[in-house]
Amino acid sequence: MRQLKPNIYFVGAIDWDRRLFDELIPLPDGTSYNAYLIKGSEKTALLDTVDPTKTTVLIDNLIKLGVDRIDYIIAHHAEQDHSGSIPDILMLYPDAKVVTNPKCKGMLIDLLNISEDKFITVDDGQTLSLGDKTLQFLYIPWVHWPETIGTYLQEDKIFFPCDFFGSHLATSGLFVDDEAVVYEAAKRYYAEIMMPFRAPIKKNLEKIKALEIEMIAPSHGPVYDRPEFIIDAYKDWVSDQVKNEVVLPYISMHDSTRKMVEHFVDALIERGITVKQFNLGVTDIGKLAMSLVDAATIVLGSPTVLTGAHPKVAYAAILANALRPKTKFASIIGSYGWGGRMVEQLTGLMPNLKVEILTPVIAKGHPKDDDFMALDKLADEILDKHKELKISS
Ligand code: FEO
Repeated sequence: MRQLKPNIYFVGAIDWDRRLFDELIPLPDGTSYNAYLIKGSEKTALLDTVDPTKTTVLIDNLIKLGVDRIDYIIAHHAEQDHSGSIPDILMLYPDAKVVTNPKCKGMLIDLLNISEDKFITVDDGQTLSLGDKTLQFLYIPWVHWPETIGTYLQEDKIFFPCDFFGSHLATSGLFVDDEAVVYEAAKRYYAEIMMPFRAPIKKNLEKIKALEIEMIAPSHGPVYDRPEFIIDAYKDWVSDQVKNEVVLPYISMHDSTRKMVEHFVDALIERGITVKQFNLGVTDIGKLAMSLVDAATIVLGSPTVLTGAHPKVAYAAILANALRPKTKFASIIGSYGWGGRMVEQLTGLMPNLKVEILTPVIAKGHPKDDDFMALDKLADEILDKHKELKISS
């Protein structure tokens, strides 16, 4: 059985084969649902459960450890990948109480129909003794739901932050063994679900500053035994600093938009700007989301379809709008045959982005010299804007 420290066990499940979360988010490396068991000298606590598809794995792990009593089930977060097995655990351990905050309690009742008398609610900062181990609960809302709490295990200096700092990564190692691999997975995870909540996450980072943390044990992915690695990464991601980068999601039907994209990408590279180009016909939207974490500018490339943008480009605009990256500038390039309102449509789909719209370039039919010159001018405009931010020389 995997052990973080004496009497602190990983009892969760690794989901090697899962390839989609929320029927939306790609999981190229699978994921894990981390549950932890803490045996105190007097009481035993289970921190979170697992996705309902893996309940038997959790129960097997508890049986292997010989757990004949659970006093507390700490529910950090109501989302079912962590809470979904609570009803089964309550059936197996009927004396257990579910410990959480009032908001999470309400959501667990709504989502899982757990009866009210099973709960103990805790305030922000409140402690709960297991005998020789003390759990301290911290409210860390909006990582990515409003109700989430974390637990700080005082004697062992381990912070259990649930989704916060997590990564969708199935791995046999309990601890991070390759920081480059985990950085990629954690950044993808941040981009996909945390990025819309940069402001509250900043506050949560401030809040945990006061804790002396030796380990961070999230609810997905490996445990950080060098916590500054992931804390520093988060500080960078939530900062207001953007990079000299253009993200270019596009699609082309008859090559006009593709030729414009190719010319434009070359023009940006010549000006020293990093480009991340995504063909939306084949792209992994997780990669696209990750690229939006740092980029100063997004440029959408689309042909005109039935007077508007290609639906895949409209989807990229809706996704960017939902993820609320710190992007500063946006523009649109593309083509049309006989008319349309693509620019107005796409800008209207991104009201959450606090961006300045730079001069769009829309070609009639196949792009011509004037259109390529206009793309060069747009590349100049982007360079000037990046220089004003002092992110380009
Ligand atoms: Fe991993 Fe928000 O659940």
